[in-house]
Amino acid sequence: MTGRARSILIVDDEQDFAVSTARMLRLEGVECLIAHDGDGAFAILDAEELQVALLDIRLKGEDGIRLAQRLRAAHPQLIVVIMTTYTSVDSAVAALKAGAFDYLRKPFFLDELMSALGRCFDICDLRQAKAETERELHLLRQHEAMAQLATGLSHDFRNMLAVIQANLAVLDQRLAPNHPMKPYATDAHEAAGTASEVLARLSGFLRGRPHTVVPVDLRGPVTETMAMMGRTLCADMTLVCDLPETPLMVQVDPHLVETALVNLLINARDATGGQGRVVINLRRVTRGADYARLVLRDDGPGLAPEAAARALEPFFTTKAEGSGLGLAMIHQMALSTGGSFRVANAAQGGAEAVLELPCLPHSQDGGTNM
Ligand SMILES: Nc1ncnc2c1ncn2[C@@H]1O[C@H](COP(=O)(O)OP(=O)(O)OP(=O)(O)O)[C@@H](O)[C@H]1O
Ligand SMILES: [Mg+2]
Repeated sequence: MTGRARSILIVDDEQDFAVSTARMLRLEGVECLIAHDGDGAFAILDAEELQVALLDIRLKGEDGIRLAQRLRAAHPQLIVVIMTTYTSVDSAVAALKAGAFDYLRKPFFLDELMSALGRCFDICDLRQAKAETERELHLLRQHEAMAQLATGLSHDFRNMLAVIQANLAVLDQRLAPNHPMKPYATDAHEAAGTASEVLARLSGFLRGRPHTVVPVDLRGPVTETMAMMGRTLCADMTLVCDLPETPLMVQVDPHLVETALVNLLINARDATGGQGRVVINLRRVTRGADYARLVLRDDGPGLAPEAAARALEPFFTTKAEGSGLGLAMIHQMALSTGGSFRVANAAQGGAEAVLELPCLPHSQDGGTNM
């Protein structure tokens, strides 16, 4: 079992047994919700996101196997472990046939229970990893489809926009300041300028510009970008930077890191009305290999539910003026360097962005200066 908090449902009409089992499991880091019958079990599963149930085969007035079937029909993700007695092994076999994942014979030792639950939690972890991989694949496919579409369109579009922009510039400049058509020409000229900026951004995002990949101590670009943003776009915000004392060497184009940070800080500024507080934390983490983990947390209202699910999708935006490419670009950069990126609501409120990039092991970054 990993150190993550785990929760299960216990369905047993013997109250003392259920309570004492829950107490023992809590000591092992497993939280339990208890139901004494089918109605109670359904009520809990409707309200809580539980994936594992420990179910007694003999409930008063209810057949445990039927209940297991009904619970799984309503909650197909539910992993059911049936508790049986020595005398009802046949029923346990029937329970397995009915879709229960495992069974335990009462009375059982805590070790047996924990190893059965450990197998259930392993399945939960695999499911979660699969869902995350599918989501990344889905996003990558979206990127690819758009890259094809945009490559076909952007060249012609850029040429047409250049002509529109040039003509509007002439009109805008030639019209006298008090001419009644002047504001229309100015607006159209500015909008054409914005359109070509968005197009340039989109082409850069989809095709990728040539990158200069060099070993960089991440503390450098982080410090410089924070200072620059603190003087300019985030001047009224509180920016707190928590950096490690030793170098964190990453093979990356430093410009990409700066762009990522600028995008994240602008999002934080937008979310907090330009007055919020942002804390940036940079650390080395080791998960098989070494990663530089950059966490940026703001004290805004956090992501709206739809944004929490779709923020990394290209073009997803909730802002009138947004292009919805900021986070998608960071995500693409993270994946292309073998890292990862996610955005979510922080437990203590506000939004939290986590960027992880592979970094050189501690032994190999020896004494490089910032
Ligand atoms: N710090 C944040 N707090 C709350 N919501 C956020 C935050 N950062 C991003 N979001 C949500 O995620 C959406 C996507 O963000 P993203 O940066 O990709 O695009 P954008 O900011 O809308 O446009 P742009 O392309 O100009 O960056 C935002 O429109 C917003 O709804
Ligand atoms: Mg943005």
